[in-house]
Amino acid sequence: METKILSATKKDIAAAGEIIKNGGLVAFPTETVYGLGANALDEKAVKSIFAAKGRPSDNPLIVHIAEKEDIYPLVKEVTPEAKALIDAFFPAPLTIILKKSNIIPYATSGGLDTVAVRMPKNETARALIKASGCPIAAPSANTSGLPSPTKAQHVIDDMTGKIDAIIDGGDCDYGVESTVITLAADVPTILRPGAVTKEMLETVLGRVEVSRAVLSGMAENETASSPGMKYKHYSPKAQLVLVEGAKKRFEEFVNSRKNAFALCFEGDDIKIPHITYGSESDDLSQAKELFDALRRLDEAGAVKVYARAPRKNGVGMAVYNRIIRAAAFRVIDLTKTFVFGLTGQTGAGKGFVGEALKTFGFNVIDSDRISRELTDRGSPVLSVLQAEFGADIVNGGELNRALLAQRAFSSRERTDELNRILHPAIIERCKKEAKGLCVIDAPQLFEAGLEKDCYKIIAVVAPRETRLERIILRDGITEKNALERINAQLSEEYYIKNSDFVIVNDGKTDVKSAVKEIIDEIL
Ligand code: TXA
Ligand code: MG
Repeated sequence: METKILSATKKDIAAAGEIIKNGGLVAFPTETVYGLGANALDEKAVKSIFAAKGRPSDNPLIVHIAEKEDIYPLVKEVTPEAKALIDAFFPAPLTIILKKSNIIPYATSGGLDTVAVRMPKNETARALIKASGCPIAAPSANTSGLPSPTKAQHVIDDMTGKIDAIIDGGDCDYGVESTVITLAADVPTILRPGAVTKEMLETVLGRVEVSRAVLSGMAENETASSPGMKYKHYSPKAQLVLVEGAKKRFEEFVNSRKNAFALCFEGDDIKIPHITYGSESDDLSQAKELFDALRRLDEAGAVKVYARAPRKNGVGMAVYNRIIRAAAFRVIDLTKTFVFGLTGQTGAGKGFVGEALKTFGFNVIDSDRISRELTDRGSPVLSVLQAEFGADIVNGGELNRALLAQRAFSSRERTDELNRILHPAIIERCKKEAKGLCVIDAPQLFEAGLEKDCYKIIAVVAPRETRLERIILRDGITEKNALERINAQLSEEYYIKNSDFVIVNDGKTDVKSAVKEIIDEIL
């Protein structure tokens, strides 16, 4: 099919109106995003919209009208709440859901008994509806699943050859789709946030709810109040991760990433390849630029993208709703401490993994260092240790660590004793030091019960022979002592069973790329 590119002139709009009258498909500008329009009352035409977009047929379309009174034939009843919203806002980036009348085909309503109606503000859109002489059903004019089109070029990219015509009306003002509010529920509920904000709707309706699915994902087997919520949305080809946290934390985090892109605000100090979407203080600018930015990331060949999170209220709610979907709900929250656990058998080479994690921006908290600090000269812990392991482990006020290790690690029972004395204090200190993205390097992570506080656990294991050699070399101890230590530890099976990731450091593994693989999976 040849797709005509039209302009927003009277003549072209009239021609486009004819196409729609005759059951064809025309993409047109609105103040939110470009729509892909067909006669809303013509079942066959409506079905061709679903085909052109590759859209699931149970996802209902919005019916666009040119005048306020045009809503009456489409719905069973214009309720007082609907009337109040129409009077206060229409024409606007606002869609109202009501019980449908019989003239709306089920193809348009996705099989539902309700219909979504919107009177756009955009003059070209309304002129087209008038020229068509019918209400126009129009979803966003993108291929299903891709970011919505906010520029004519986006529509050309997605729809050329699939539809009759595209009216080029320049860039869309808002850049995110309309607010969708249902008045068919007990309490007016926002199903999709947009430029008409919850705060604005409340001034007219009083109480307005926001569907839980707006800011978070839907639980599996939860039924969607708006079918559109359950589908994958706005997804660039790149894997997007939404990063919560203030500017500075975001910059630090992103600048420590390698082979990644950032989706950030203007003025953010980003040292890796990046694309901006608006400015931090202006959520309208974010809305306007987001979808284009997502498309540009793909054009730039981004594979992994860390996106700075917008705020969640005002128009920010609409931006957040789109971006968290684009990220398929992958979120890293830097305002919370992001604690990873690193553990493993003695001699397995945990240290190398810790070093590798540092290069990925992790702050490594070394529990051995904390343990040493806690047993420094003059520490009250020393006398407790002496009572348990013998007075001679302290010499001239100084702890003889080698001697303590020899005694404490000689059997499981003795190790447990040492842990009982040291662990509570070590845990407290670890927690105090944990900030942002960090990993607690703790050989005794499980024994101390620290795993409960860890987001993900990485364990390092190695063959027994290898560990034995390493320990003897590293600590200059006898083979007998080294074996005792190894035997006092948890088994390899235990680490494998209780960790999220296991690195087998047998000398052949490239630790850095093993760590990178893990990071790619979780960050
Ligand atoms: O700004 C907009 O609303 C744009 C422009 C073109 O007007 N249109 C748009 O349409 O975004 P679309 O189809 O991409 O999104 C419509 C959303 C979908 O999530 C759909 O599930 C929901 O509205 N929806 C439509 N009718 C509904 C109904 N009867 N009940 C619940 N949700 C409905
Ligand atoms: Mg859409």
